[in-house]
Amino acid sequence: MESGVALDERLASRLDELRRSGLYRKRHIVDAVRGAMEVIVDGRPCIDFCSNDYLGLRRDPEILAAFVAAAGHYGVGSGAAHLITGHTREHHALEEELADFLERPRALLFSTGYMANLGIAVALAGRNDTFIEDRLNHASLLDAARLAGARLQRYAHADAAALARRLEGSASAGRFVVTNGVFSMDGDLAPLPELAQLSAAHRACLIVDDAHGFGVIGAGGAGTLEHFGLDVQAVPVLMVTLGKALGVFGAAVAGSEALIETLIQSARTYIYTTALPPAVAAAARAALRIVQCQAWRREKLRANIARFRNGVSALGLELPASMTPIQPLPVGDARRAVQASEALVAAGFRIAAIRPPTVPAGSARLRVTLSAGHDDTHIDRLLDALASIKLGVAA
Ligand SMILES: Cc1ncc(COP(=O)(O)O)c(C=O)c1O
Repeated sequence: MESGVALDERLASRLDELRRSGLYRKRHIVDAVRGAMEVIVDGRPCIDFCSNDYLGLRRDPEILAAFVAAAGHYGVGSGAAHLITGHTREHHALEEELADFLERPRALLFSTGYMANLGIAVALAGRNDTFIEDRLNHASLLDAARLAGARLQRYAHADAAALARRLEGSASAGRFVVTNGVFSMDGDLAPLPELAQLSAAHRACLIVDDAHGFGVIGAGGAGTLEHFGLDVQAVPVLMVTLGKALGVFGAAVAGSEALIETLIQSARTYIYTTALPPAVAAAARAALRIVQCQAWRREKLRANIARFRNGVSALGLELPASMTPIQPLPVGDARRAVQASEALVAAGFRIAAIRPPTVPAGSARLRVTLSAGHDDTHIDRLLDALASIKLGVAA
């Protein structure tokens, strides 16, 4: 058996290698959040351009009030799993409201999007099944296939023809086509109408993770499926998260009665874990009402995205096509991406450097995320800072 000393030596050499290759990950401590988008990070005030709070809701007074009231009513923790005694009226009402908004018969809450994706796979698939996934899917979707013991095949990013070839070459009994709705690191949308049509033609089930589309995309903010006009027949399994545009925490799967009842019976990440705090469910209900009633937030977000993209192209830099709040500035080398991110922190902006293994080798980037909480001055100051650090962007 390996001793503690031997283990530490082995780990230290792995950590050194990560440092040498510019892939070492560090945490930054947030001391405070002020206004919609200012954060004090490592003691330094910064404008936050890396959160997923796309509608600027995380400090919204209505959401906070709902959270506090429910905590007063139920206490802080839920006390148990949903199937024991953790499923409160707030959870139940949120599930019904999400189902209505997403125009699906039922919805089921999970504690996180990561757990929802694992739960879907384990409940629906097994060793004889195949998950056919976009190459740039979120890590949780890849881990989900592995945890279910299913065969995992990947197709070229957003390439319906490549998916068709995979489907034609696969003879599994159960086939699941799995994709992000909005790709987390690139900001582009999956070609969902083509994927839905191919899945139907090959009797495969389409699963869409719309973590970054929910609340943002579609005229009413219901997400990528609303944008493309796809219903529950076309996309039987939809996963949305509550910690991004809604500014809260948690996730839900929406679909048919049979799907949701199956998840309740068999999704291990649903059954064997403490339910979300009821106050979080209450806060998400308030956030969902805002998503539905305050369309101006999506309009402001779109205006901010346009301002940023126009400003970047005026600087002579290239941005990949993305209509979403995720605007990646390609850098290429991981170390250069970290240096650029550090230079931006020094200038008062929090922007994450995204490196392998989150993105493919050689495609490190600065991932700028925009929010309805940003104002014109925030964006213009960021553009000035990008100009001054002379970011050489690889097209
Ligand atoms: C596409 C996608 N799916 C799932 C998740 C996981 O969601 P959560 O943060 O709620 O676990 C994320 C979040 O990073 C994501 O980007």
